[in-house]
Amino acid sequence: MPSQASTPRKEAAPVVLKVSGLRKSFGEREALRGVEFEVHRGELLAVVGPNGAGKTTMLGILAGIRPPDAGRVETPSGEVGWVPQQAALYRRLTVGENLRLFARLEKVEAPDAAVERMLEQTGLAERRDDQVAELSGGNQQRINIAIGLLADPAVLLLDEPSAGLDPGQRIRLWEFVAGLAKRGTTVIYSTHQIEEATHYGDRLLVLADGESLFDGSFEAMRQAAGASGEVTDPEADFVRFLEKQGH
Ligand SMILES: Nc1ncnc2c1ncn2[C@@H]1O[C@H](COP(=O)(O)OP(=O)(O)O)[C@@H](O)[C@H]1O
Ligand SMILES: [Mg+2]
Repeated sequence: MPSQASTPRKEAAPVVLKVSGLRKSFGEREALRGVEFEVHRGELLAVVGPNGAGKTTMLGILAGIRPPDAGRVETPSGEVGWVPQQAALYRRLTVGENLRLFARLEKVEAPDAAVERMLEQTGLAERRDDQVAELSGGNQQRINIAIGLLADPAVLLLDEPSAGLDPGQRIRLWEFVAGLAKRGTTVIYSTHQIEEATHYGDRLLVLADGESLFDGSFEAMRQAAGASGEVTDPEADFVRFLEKQGH
């Protein structure tokens, strides 16, 4: 008889994305040199690594917007939604107009219904007639995410979603993202801030110099770095981990 934990383990949920042997070069520069991992339904995976580690390159490949040189991306549950770091919103158009435009561009079935669902989910229904330019950075980021969610994807990819947000906006963003994961959307996001990755993620995937160096909990990463005791400086633990791995 199972003796533990009433909360369902996400690792027991079905795999919704599986990556193996991913490689990508830009000329001489090897941006990805063998990336492997899988994620399960409803997981919140933080891809963490220094600038230039290959995070954006990897997410772009997972999103299907550029092909890898080698390797496989399997998405048995279908759709993957993509939220780039730079939102491509039309600032002079309203929130509702932007969502409708992207719904049409992405050939979403029943675009009007999808737009209503997005306005509801993002809590922006009351701002539907406001110009995007008038919204705060946090609310603009919500629209950016709403566009990624238009096709109701099983997996949502967010590239440094909190960059440029103030602390209050960040907290609201992460509450929103956690709510998505709770409802069963798998979320993969990148960040170069280890603190953020430890707070808002079930699991870390550490990417450095194009390689996936580690996949697991923050605690397990600290142990691999030889750190013990209370966590006082996650950033320092992370740097120690990278150094120990030769990065
Ligand atoms: N379109 C591109 N052309 C040439 N080099 C690129 C291109 N995109 C990324 N790179 C290089 O690939 C490496 C990984 O970049 P990137 O994926 O943007 O890293 P990150 O998102 O982790 O900061 C970097 O060295 C970067 O300069
Ligand atoms: Mg990047």
